[in-house]
Amino acid sequence: MEFLPFTRPTIDEETIAGVAEVLRSGWITSGPQVKKFEAELSRYCGGRPVRTFNSGTAALEIGLRLAGIGPGDEVITTPLSWVATSNVILELGAKPVFVDIDPATRNIDLGGIESAVTKKTKAILPVYLAGLPVDLDRLYAMAEKHHLRVLEDAAQAFGSSWNRKRIGSRGDLIAFSFHANKNITCGEGGCIVLPGESDVVLCEKLRLQGVTRSGEDGMDVDVVGGKFNLTDVAARIGLGQLEHLKEFTEKRRELARHYFETLNPGLGCKLPVPDFENSNWHMFQVVLPGRVRRAKFIAKMRDLGIGIGVHYPAIHLFSLYRSLGWKTGQFPHAERAGKGIATLPLFPAMEKADVERVCEAVAHVVGEILQ
Ligand SMILES: Cc1ncc(COP(=O)(O)O)c(C=O)c1O
Repeated sequence: MEFLPFTRPTIDEETIAGVAEVLRSGWITSGPQVKKFEAELSRYCGGRPVRTFNSGTAALEIGLRLAGIGPGDEVITTPLSWVATSNVILELGAKPVFVDIDPATRNIDLGGIESAVTKKTKAILPVYLAGLPVDLDRLYAMAEKHHLRVLEDAAQAFGSSWNRKRIGSRGDLIAFSFHANKNITCGEGGCIVLPGESDVVLCEKLRLQGVTRSGEDGMDVDVVGGKFNLTDVAARIGLGQLEHLKEFTEKRRELARHYFETLNPGLGCKLPVPDFENSNWHMFQVVLPGRVRRAKFIAKMRDLGIGIGVHYPAIHLFSLYRSLGWKTGQFPHAERAGKGIATLPLFPAMEKADVERVCEAVAHVVGEILQ
């Protein structure tokens, strides 16, 4: 039987032909395709200004810089995410302040944020794990009360919404990723939704070496910027993906629903929140029963031709973070999820029969391990 990976991008022939056209055009780095992609993204986000980057990580780092985060500042975030979320805080010389997750949503526990606020706190950086947003009304009420900026790590949440409003169409700074595994992809890429037009100039400077051009040959540099621009080749892939967003999200929802219908609840796996309003179902993740060693589970599933992902180990337990003072026991919910979380296959080209195959294999493997 064919190997079923935990994810796979769906790229249509029109997009492939479009990329070939860009490659033949004589202009393959940032140019007209990037402009067009940014305009489409802006339209999707209710007309707000959007700028693209060569990764979601770059979008986060520039978002923090636009929020004025620097050495000595504290940023409240979750310990259960891709390590990029907190690495960018360290990169700027600021300090991540972790607040444990809510074990049901696996997102930062909003109830723990206020007690983590200090005089040094400048921003909250929530992550929408697997595409499930936090309660945005509650989040922004808290941010307003404590005069904090918000940078939403919506890397996984393109296509998600909160209270019928698209993620990206409201709020402060919102960062998305278009990495190959995301619901829409550029291969690699990302973007940020800005609060207003006044942020665009600095954002563009930070994206490309701090450069401002004027007239025919004028050039100045007044701030340190990086090399974070998206290529036209990548933007053309993104444009082709955007056209399918609605259908991709619907298919993911349908498959996720089928997981709930099919996965045997008696196995003791903790299921995600069954949200079919807000989540884009970027991933379908279960937390394995405590007695099931994840490494063994992954190996046995692979033997049955099924790929399992690990998203993610708790960040504060990585060597780098331990060396900065964090230790085991500080965020028990994130630690428990980080140890036992397993991403089951979910991508638009799958069929319900694939879900059934995965569920059968999970039952078999968990049963065998627990024997
Ligand atoms: C939650 C989260 N934050 C940040 C990132 C970083 O995005 P990228 O890989 O595009 O740099 C990712 C994706 O990889 C992610 O899943």
